[in-house]
Amino acid sequence: MSTQRTARKHVVVFRKIPDDLLERIREWHDVTLADPRRADELPRFRDALPDADGLIGSSFRLGEQELDRAARLRVISSISVGVDNYDLACLKRRGITLCHTPGVLTETTADTVFALIIAASRRLVELSNHVREGGWTRNIGEDRFGWDVHGKTLGVLGFGRIGQAVARRAALGFDMPVIFHDPFDVQVPPSLAQHAVRASFDDVLGRADIVALTLPLSDETRGLMDARAFSAMKPGAIFVNGSRGAIVREDALLAALDSGHLRAAGLDVFAVEPLPQDSPLRMHPKVTPFPHIGSATHETRRAMAELATENLLRVLDGEPAVAAYDLSKG
Ligand code: DGY
Repeated sequence: MSTQRTARKHVVVFRKIPDDLLERIREWHDVTLADPRRADELPRFRDALPDADGLIGSSFRLGEQELDRAARLRVISSISVGVDNYDLACLKRRGITLCHTPGVLTETTADTVFALIIAASRRLVELSNHVREGGWTRNIGEDRFGWDVHGKTLGVLGFGRIGQAVARRAALGFDMPVIFHDPFDVQVPPSLAQHAVRASFDDVLGRADIVALTLPLSDETRGLMDARAFSAMKPGAIFVNGSRGAIVREDALLAALDSGHLRAAGLDVFAVEPLPQDSPLRMHPKVTPFPHIGSATHETRRAMAELATENLLRVLDGEPAVAAYDLSKG
């Protein structure tokens, strides 16, 4: 816990955080509250940038244009694990510390990915809507049956904390063989040593019955799941995305679903969020869409806000953050 008193600084809180955490920041620093995603608050956010020493929030792109206005900025404390909303090269050049919230959301996000796997495979949302819409006048026939999850081969693209937590659920809870691909030389944790096998990207696509995407968005992964990647997937496979929409070429995913090559998709994230009303993914019969709820539980959002607040206060006090993003990774 940060207790050291330093000169008051100016903090812009750009997403709602719990009142007690806001008070904790206010005890030490002057605060402007402004959510730039709201048209009526955007001018206040922009006006506050030139005096800002610290920013805390999430879900808003802070590119070079915004950062140029923030000449005094020392720290951005993101209430997210993903850092794709920030211009990393600019932050590095300017020596601005970027903090994020890894670890505290791992298990919740893995729960969400696994929920997508089950929902897409067993057609849970579609069948629940069938009941709500009054369609359950007799028991369902084969045309509405789902597909088993247990025993299927799960392919995990991205074997970081969240990918490993998904693999643990699959292997230890659902008796699923796991194959994974990660661009880095990640260690397989002992609990998965007997269950998870490293493979090439194409091998994972070609062998998995269900492919779960848990890679971060970067220049290397943007558009990675394109027409070639979907055609390399096993016929009848299921695709699940719990990371970032921009890793997927949505037109290619739609084509793979419409041609019948893929059985179904479960998507928590989209190229544009909130998902536009006219997106063909919104009502597609083979798509189970979630509204980007990976970490959205009371407990986990609270833990993320606590960690982000601690990160912010520490950096403003001249101390190392609990979780600074390594900007040398790019
Ligand atoms: C994260 O933490 O990156 C989640 O996706 C929320 O944006």
